[in-house]
Amino acid sequence: MSEESKNKIAIVTGGADGIGLSTSKLLAEKNYIVIISDINEEAGKHAVDDLVKEGKQADFIKVDVSNYEEVKSLIDQTVEKYKTIDLLVNNAGIGTKEYRRASEHTLEDWDKVIAVNQSGVFYGMKVALGYMLEQGSGNIVNVASLAGVKASTTGMAYAASKFAVVGMTKSAALEYASRNIRINCICPSFTETQLLEDSMFLVPDMREKLVRSIPLKRYAQPEEMAEAIYWLASDKSAFVTGHTLVVDGGLLL
Ligand SMILES: NC(=O)c1ccc[n+]([C@@H]2O[C@H](COP(=O)([O-])OP(=O)(O)OC[C@H]3O[C@@H](n4cnc5c(N)ncnc54)[C@H](O)[C@@H]3O)[C@@H](O)[C@H]2O)c1
Repeated sequence: MSEESKNKIAIVTGGADGIGLSTSKLLAEKNYIVIISDINEEAGKHAVDDLVKEGKQADFIKVDVSNYEEVKSLIDQTVEKYKTIDLLVNNAGIGTKEYRRASEHTLEDWDKVIAVNQSGVFYGMKVALGYMLEQGSGNIVNVASLAGVKASTTGMAYAASKFAVVGMTKSAALEYASRNIRINCICPSFTETQLLEDSMFLVPDMREKLVRSIPLKRYAQPEEMAEAIYWLASDKSAFVTGHTLVVDGGLLL
């Protein structure tokens, strides 16, 4: 039986929009049963309805990833229903609301960004890894950011949270490699989603200014991030673990 001909079970956090939605659609095309989880119930249910209309299998579970009990319940419910969790995509994330220098960063923004982007990923990994150990296999793909591998002059909370995602990915990959569990992350740069749109107020003409700094001279589409996530989730990358896949149009160069 080929990899794509049997149903695997995937959870995608933040799966209602942007990179998470594109990833959910691609995984469903590749024959995964996709559990879309998101804090936005309306958009999440809409995404599932669309997939089901196309004959795909998908469920929606409302979750705020910064709440440990909700993340645990998401994964518990999934395993109870489907008996396994093959893939967890820890994608849900938020941008900082402030883009201020460190000395001006508010504690509220710090706590919120760390709770969603960092603790949310830890909670998902902690619970999913328990089940993956029991079943003897598993795959986790975390969505970090270019801001998780290079310095940013603004948004220290966001940078801290994304460096943490890279660190958690590498540490856990090493801990669980011998247990048939692979853990990788992608580091997107500017991708055409709501999150990017929300940061465009910072400077006049920011959209045009930013694009000039990208060697490939365009923004990424969320589908391109989904392809990178799928590759890490698939057996095509079977010898890859603990990897930080930068998908940035050459920006890091
Ligand atoms: N778009 C970019 O340019 C870019 C660049 C680098 C990294 N990223 C990362 O990619 C990931 C996805 O971002 P996106 O651009 O698709 O953003 P998006 O805003 O388009 O989508 C994010 C989704 O996550 C959900 N979400 C937000 N907070 C949540 C919470 N507490 N619990 C559950 N769901 C929650 C939102 O409702 C939304 O559906 C994030 O981790 C982000 O940091 C994005």
